[in-house]
Amino acid sequence: MPPLPRHDDWIPPPRFGAVAFEGYRPTDPSQAEALARVAAFVAPRPRPRWPWRSAPAERPGLYLDGGFGVGKTHLMAAAWHASREERKVYLSFAELVAAIGTLGVHAAHENLGRERLYCIDEFELDDPGNTLLVKRFLAFAIGQGARVITTSNTAPGAQGEGRFDAAAFQREIQSVAAHFAVLSLQGVDYRTQLVEDQVLENEVLDDDALDDDALDDDAAAARAPRGAVEATWEELHAALARIHPVRYGAWLRSGGAWVIRDARVIPDQQRALRFVHFIDKAYDQRVPLWLTGGVRLSALFDPSYAHGAYRKKHDRARSRLGEMLREARRYPAEANAPTK
Ligand SMILES: Nc1ncnc2c1ncn2[C@@H]1O[C@H](COP(=O)(O)OP(=O)(O)OP(=O)(O)O)[C@@H](O)[C@H]1O
Ligand SMILES: [Mg+2]
Repeated sequence: MPPLPRHDDWIPPPRFGAVAFEGYRPTDPSQAEALARVAAFVAPRPRPRWPWRSAPAERPGLYLDGGFGVGKTHLMAAAWHASREERKVYLSFAELVAAIGTLGVHAAHENLGRERLYCIDEFELDDPGNTLLVKRFLAFAIGQGARVITTSNTAPGAQGEGRFDAAAFQREIQSVAAHFAVLSLQGVDYRTQLVEDQVLENEVLDDDALDDDALDDDAAAARAPRGAVEATWEELHAALARIHPVRYGAWLRSGGAWVIRDARVIPDQQRALRFVHFIDKAYDQRVPLWLTGGVRLSALFDPSYAHGAYRKKHDRARSRLGEMLREARRYPAEANAPTK
């Protein structure tokens, strides 16, 4: 029997370890609405004055849908921090699926299905198997009184499209979707704004061309702390192929800080997806990362495979990598960034 996943591990990762509603500045009316709705969702609810009058039915779940960088994860993590529930967990969708797979459905329900609040990042039904597992798990947990917040780049009804024969699983997909009220966050990628804010506040970086995402900034890599892991692009990709993706997070942490040189266009989808996963982990863990090479960030993924459902993953990775590279340029100030 493998060890049970530990609830203590199911907390927001370092990047979202201290975010708050107060630090969220809506840039679009849909974001202002999302902020109010998410905050209300986790606010302590007063006892009804007239308990015999039934309160308006509220869905047990909130689904934050939107493009990358609009602050979905920020809001969800802020909700987790604000919630007074003692039994609350924060985890990624992939971690939830892996935990159910490891434990088996029954043990997963018994051991993991009795929390009061679930915050699930990056909800993505990408095959029929996980669709069924998650459908059953959510039905069980919600049946026990759980409330759920989730984020996704895909609207609930469009889950599965381009991944598997979603039409054949419409009933399952709809039954998952029915738990949630959907909040669609519009607006631009806040990660690009973050730069302007910080430039103004800190008056740094005047010599760094922030509008130019060429990865040719060896001067920035010189800021990396001594002892940072140094690897070439080829070495990185060879290692990513060798290590199981579930180990990327631990592997990244073991390095502390990373300098990767000679970045080039990624030639195929398999390598691209491994790199995306590596960046997702590095982003959440807030691992300092420098990447240099003769390619622009915008050209890292080759158009030959950057299409369909995968395109979003590539774009998201680029957005996250952009934020990380800008942080790296002002390292170490960013290493201890203030609470947002
Ligand atoms: N309106 C906002 N006010 C303040 N900070 C914001 C806002 N929106 C996003 N941020 C910050 O911008 C960064 C990106 O936000 P976040 O990761 O929450 O976006 P996301 O919508 O979850 O993106 P993705 O689709 O890539 O997961 C984070 O550092 C977050 O704290
Ligand atoms: Mg997110």
